[in-house]
Amino acid sequence: MMHKNILILSTSPRKHSNSDALAEEFAKGAREAGHDVEKISLIGKEIQFCRGCLACQKTKRCVIHDDADKIVQEKMLHADVLVFATPIYYYEMSGQMKTLLDRANPLYTCDYAFREVYFIAAAAEDGDEVWTRAANGLEGWIACFPKARLSGVIFGGNATDTGTVQCNPAMKKAFDAGKAIQ
Ligand SMILES: Cc1cc2nc3c(=O)[nH]c(=O)nc-3n(C[C@H](O)[C@H](O)[C@H](O)COP(=O)(O)O)c2cc1C
Repeated sequence: MMHKNILILSTSPRKHSNSDALAEEFAKGAREAGHDVEKISLIGKEIQFCRGCLACQKTKRCVIHDDADKIVQEKMLHADVLVFATPIYYYEMSGQMKTLLDRANPLYTCDYAFREVYFIAAAAEDGDEVWTRAANGLEGWIACFPKARLSGVIFGGNATDTGTVQCNPAMKKAFDAGKAIQ
């Protein structure tokens, strides 16, 4: 078995968030399988919008030196596996997750290590139609990184208030998905 560096980007702004609880289960499973797991929450992070200047395509670095720049350069570039956890907002990924994906544009010209990408989401409603737009959005990003693919989706529905995802079968699915990484 290969020992992998797994980076979880937990993008909910809520403490004790549902998507973060799923991300924690994924992390537990992956650690049990012997991988190195780091989870970064975007709570308290300074993440500005991409300015669209495309300077990064020449310099491999963003002109904005905030937390997103650090996460991209120091963490996302080197991880073997990326895991994005998000609340569903209006049947889409959260704005902060989208902003991070945009700010990861320097990776487009870099020798990025990630080959597997996982998507974790929580929402008030249940059903595939609640999360598919968000997963499609992430797949659009992955399409620009041809060495990587979407390796799994974990969705916890029927979860509105914080903590309500705890009794959801998605918790076990998250653990199992983390543990199944080889
Ligand atoms: C701005 C906003 C939009 C939301 N839109 C949806 C939605 O379209 N569908 C849904 O099922 N839940 C929606 N919700 C509910 C959240 O997805 C739900 O509370 C979820 O548990 C949040 O995840 P978190 O605890 O990880 O932040 C929305 C919540 C907010 C704040």
